[in-house]
Amino acid sequence: MIDNRFKDKIALVTGAGSQRGIGRGTALALAKEGAQVVITDIVADNVKSVTSELNAISRAIGEVADVRDKQAMIQVVTKTVEVLGGLDILVNVAGLTRPTSFLGITEEEYDLVLDVNLKGTFLTTQAAVPALLARGGGSIISLASVSGQRGGGVFGTSAYSASKAGIMGLTKALARELTPLGIRVNCVAPSMVDTDIAGDLLTDERRVELAKGTLIGRLGTVDDVVKSILFLASEESSYLTGVTLDVNGGMHLH
Ligand SMILES: NC(=O)c1ccc[n+]([C@@H]2O[C@H](COP(=O)([O-])OP(=O)(O)OC[C@H]3O[C@@H](n4cnc5c(N)ncnc54)[C@H](O)[C@@H]3O)[C@@H](O)[C@H]2O)c1
Repeated sequence: MIDNRFKDKIALVTGAGSQRGIGRGTALALAKEGAQVVITDIVADNVKSVTSELNAISRAIGEVADVRDKQAMIQVVTKTVEVLGGLDILVNVAGLTRPTSFLGITEEEYDLVLDVNLKGTFLTTQAAVPALLARGGGSIISLASVSGQRGGGVFGTSAYSASKAGIMGLTKALARELTPLGIRVNCVAPSMVDTDIAGDLLTDERRVELAKGTLIGRLGTVDDVVKSILFLASEESSYLTGVTLDVNGGMHLH
């Protein structure tokens, strides 16, 4: 951890309610390094508890907001600017997966995965960009996945893979459009990280098997991903934009 890397910065992290999740880890790490942080999630109790953890470190706001709801995300950004004074960093973490096979997946399930993962990232970014521009620029980081590069193969299936490949394309398109205006846009592509996203499917046996598939010899941790997100949010990555940063322990080389 580098002290005060984000002093005077204001960050918004979506999907930050889950106790063992990448969003909470990112929000806490940003706060510990000096940022004021706004978090969102759809689970009210989790928003409350992570917000109080954050408030013990620095000034924070927690909002129950669904990334699929454009107006709700605009309201979150408006409140961020009114209460904290602006927005410099957006981290699009909210996401979900479904293990259903291609022939089994219903249109509703496909829509849910694409709407939360891809459209949610799109709408949240659209809501946030005017505030970033008002500060003269900033940094946007979204959560892609190795699943979008190699076609799933762990727990994510077709819809998840399509949504995460979409995030990588969206990242490049937004980098082209927004970087000349001062906003760097990047994403991270983790392999399997031990959180609650896979539900009960990540058994001890599967953990060992997945670790063997990496070159580093272990599963990724939330901390591994958080460090990469903070790197992309910080000035240390000032010449990086449109990049997909692999955080996969060598599971997928390309
Ligand atoms: N864990 C992994 O192995 C892994 C690997 C690659 C990418 N990712 C991506 O990282 C991100 C975080 O995953 P995680 O492992 O921390 O999962 P998680 O399930 O712990 O956290 C996801 C959070 O998003 C929230 N969320 C779901 N739908 C939402 C919505 N409509 N609006 C707002 N919030 C919503 C959930 O309530 C939850 O708190 C996801 O985008 C995921 O696809 C995870």
